[in-house]
Amino acid sequence: MSAAAAAARAPAAAEVTVDGDPVKMRGDKVKVFYGQKQALFDVDLDVRERMVTALIGPSGCGKSTFLRCLNRMNDTIDICRVEGRLTLDGMDIYDPSIDVVELRARVGMVFQKPNPFPKSIYENVAYGPRIHGLARNKAELDDIVASSLQKAGLFEEVKDRLDAPGTGLSGGQQQRLCIARAIAVSPEVILMDEPCSALDPIATAKVEELIDELRANYTIVIVTHSMQQAARVSQRTAFFHLGNLVEEGPTQDIFTNPRDKRTQDYITGRFG
Ligand SMILES: Nc1ncnc2c1ncn2[C@@H]1O[C@H](COP(=O)(O)OP(=O)(O)O)[C@@H](O)[C@H]1O
Ligand SMILES: [Mg+2]
Repeated sequence: MSAAAAAARAPAAAEVTVDGDPVKMRGDKVKVFYGQKQALFDVDLDVRERMVTALIGPSGCGKSTFLRCLNRMNDTIDICRVEGRLTLDGMDIYDPSIDVVELRARVGMVFQKPNPFPKSIYENVAYGPRIHGLARNKAELDDIVASSLQKAGLFEEVKDRLDAPGTGLSGGQQQRLCIARAIAVSPEVILMDEPCSALDPIATAKVEELIDELRANYTIVIVTHSMQQAARVSQRTAFFHLGNLVEEGPTQDIFTNPRDKRTQDYITGRFG
């Protein structure tokens, strides 16, 4: 890390906790604009380490926008402007000294529609470790590929055809391949934007099971339009409405005892 990047770390940042839980990422008064239009208003949100945080709320409320702030994917949208502070282990991820490629290795992303590269299963997973120089030789790369596929719950299904195209897998397998690809560069945080919305119920159940296993080792933030899914996979839930974070809390409390009327209306199906 450069000296400037080190300076961007707040003192004792790694020690930040909330209710005794370590905070992995923090949004502090996050505002996002697309041109003149403001999409997020002063969002304060702590993402707790090794937990699954679900972002829920009606379509267009800013869930994906907030998720993309966490690994600076919004940088790729020309008209998008982000204000406020976002940190990873206390480090300001919008500091000019930050290497965005390195940030996105630490904070990986899985998209709504499975998007394997038009390459073999092996190459899909090996790509990241190769560009980040994580393996010294072919044997090490083979190990990373196998263990990433294993962690994504896909190895047994594909071990005999690693040279087959990733795009030839079923939708659910493709999404687990994309999760393996994210895992292969040893991220600390995995962002998932409606990762099951293109999958059938059985493939969805597999991915949800996987998310539950992954939280032992990773911090996960998942956008979902399914309240049932949020209830099944997350420990914390954040409810967004019209660009505001209305409330965040233990998932069970959000669904059984929300503090805000807007949350109550949403979870009881009055809108959205
Ligand atoms: N690339 C973009 N350009 C312009 N406006 C956008 C863009 N992406 C999102 N928005 C707007 O920002 C708001 C929040 O969108 P989004 O974060 O995608 O919501 P959600 O994921 O909750 O459905 C919406 O009003 C949407 O139209
Ligand atoms: Mg979205």
